[in-house]
Amino acid sequence: MAEQWQKHDMDFLGGQRLRRTRRTAWSRAMVRETTLTPSDLIWPLFVIEGHNEKTAIRTMPGVQRLSVDLCVEAARQARDAGIPALALFPNTPDHLRSENGAEAYNPDNLMCRALSAIKSAVPEIGLIADVALDEYSSDGQDGLVRDGEILNDETVAVMIKSALVQSKAGADIIAPSDMMDGRVGAIRAALDDNGFEQTQIMAYAAKYASYFYGPFREAVGSGSRLQGDKRTYQMDYANSDEAMREIEQDIAEGADSIMVKPGLPYLDIVRRARDSFNIPIYAYQVSGEFAMIELAAAAGAIDRKGSILESLHAFKRAGANGVLSYFALEVARDLGK
Ligand code: PBG
Repeated sequence: MAEQWQKHDMDFLGGQRLRRTRRTAWSRAMVRETTLTPSDLIWPLFVIEGHNEKTAIRTMPGVQRLSVDLCVEAARQARDAGIPALALFPNTPDHLRSENGAEAYNPDNLMCRALSAIKSAVPEIGLIADVALDEYSSDGQDGLVRDGEILNDETVAVMIKSALVQSKAGADIIAPSDMMDGRVGAIRAALDDNGFEQTQIMAYAAKYASYFYGPFREAVGSGSRLQGDKRTYQMDYANSDEAMREIEQDIAEGADSIMVKPGLPYLDIVRRARDSFNIPIYAYQVSGEFAMIELAAAAGAIDRKGSILESLHAFKRAGANGVLSYFALEVARDLGK
């Protein structure tokens, strides 16, 4: 039973002890490098037809699709919690979906009605309108399809019309999420030509063909329609240099801000973008990431609130200016307490 523990000479530390600043709460608060505030959070909402209607999404516990009147209520809550902007996604009724996605530019579509109702009732909150055809087309692809091919320029022409009706309805930020080439420049030119010089574009610049979008596709009703995948337009998850080219191009075409999506599995892309470009960068904590946290917490595997906050701080640490997150309202409220 010799001496089990012996104090060593610690001179090699040169006086440095990194635990010193971690000892007390006040000191940890003082050296904290990253902060999270409600203004960092953008809240995505799923819109459905009807009045006082909400429907559950099986794979997104706690998230509901809301009818326009309830979206207005949600917008008030978000504003009161200090959230700067909402991102809207419509679940277009089946009978309005078609091969040409014409509902995307119907000025009276669900998306436009939601935008104008929220804009007039809660003008203080920013409205981000997703532009892509999967929410309106019968096949669940983000673009027009001909003989199995996703058409680029023909899709961009439809997106322009969609962006214009959305801007007219009250969208402050147009967010193309489709990954067609040239759509940012084309939408910018169309907005400018039609008196929407002040409408921003948030480009889903580095959007990956991801397995983490599953619950979202259930939420907007595109998943069961989708044949195959989106790999001819969304990016290969193995690539990083290519993401920098996508971002560079979207900035050159006139994007006001860019997005990296999904979020946590792509924090390296957020950091690289932050180091390479001087532009606001947003990350999307997508539906599958939300589901992973919720389902793991429900199973008792992780602490729910703790892991939500940790994940959101990770985005800020990586250099994001803000995060689109389904946790936004809850977290903004908690932060304000
Ligand atoms: C499609 C779109 C998707 C998401 C946002 N816009 C899904 C897809 O590309 O298939 C995913 C968001 C999420 O998973 O939370 N235009």
